[in-house]
Amino acid sequence: MGAKKEIIFITTNKDKVKEIQDLADAESKRIKIEHLEYDYPELQLAEIESVAKESANYIREKMTIKKPFFLEDSGLLIHALNGFPGPFSAFVFDKIGNEGILKLMADKKGEERKATFKTVVAFCESRKAVPVLFVGTAEGEIAEEIRGGGGFGYDPIFEFEGTGKTFAELSTEEKNKISHRGRAFRKLLDYLSI
Ligand code: IMP
Repeated sequence: MGAKKEIIFITTNKDKVKEIQDLADAESKRIKIEHLEYDYPELQLAEIESVAKESANYIREKMTIKKPFFLEDSGLLIHALNGFPGPFSAFVFDKIGNEGILKLMADKKGEERKATFKTVVAFCESRKAVPVLFVGTAEGEIAEEIRGGGGFGYDPIFEFEGTGKTFAELSTEEKNKISHRGRAFRKLLDYLSI
């Protein structure tokens, strides 16, 4: 086996780092993830894809980074709310949290509670390379109440389809197998053939 491919993951979110490290360990012996804690400004754009792409472009411009790198942007899209909070998920979580989302959903029943979690990974082989995007989604619904002690962010209110369990009721390993982030990251590994 040759040397491992070293890739930098840029984020300030320790929960994302844990998930990505666990994914890398579980999925491939040929990748080594290095974490770079860097707080790049997150643009408020209308699509999660655009946020991930422009964040990667910002880093290409501003930083002297010598290895391949990626970052990711994620969001919760509630169908009955036309995809809200979507690209504004971090802002909305900070302002109203899971309790606020449950209040917004108070009169929604059955199908109206459907939601999609989405991650867009933006990968650059080098500073000179334009970002390549990988999208992963997970379908589910907004739970009636906050449940589970694991995970982070919206995990306690996102019930993965057909399981009756929120992401916060799953271990990191279980969540990674089915999550939006797991799916996007595995697409990156496929692209890199590692
Ligand atoms: P961002 O990708 O860091 O912009 O995340 C947007 C918002 O969604 C933040 O409030 C995160 O805490 C939350 N978030 C991102 N990924 C997940 C996840 O896998 N589960 C639950 N919440 C998440």
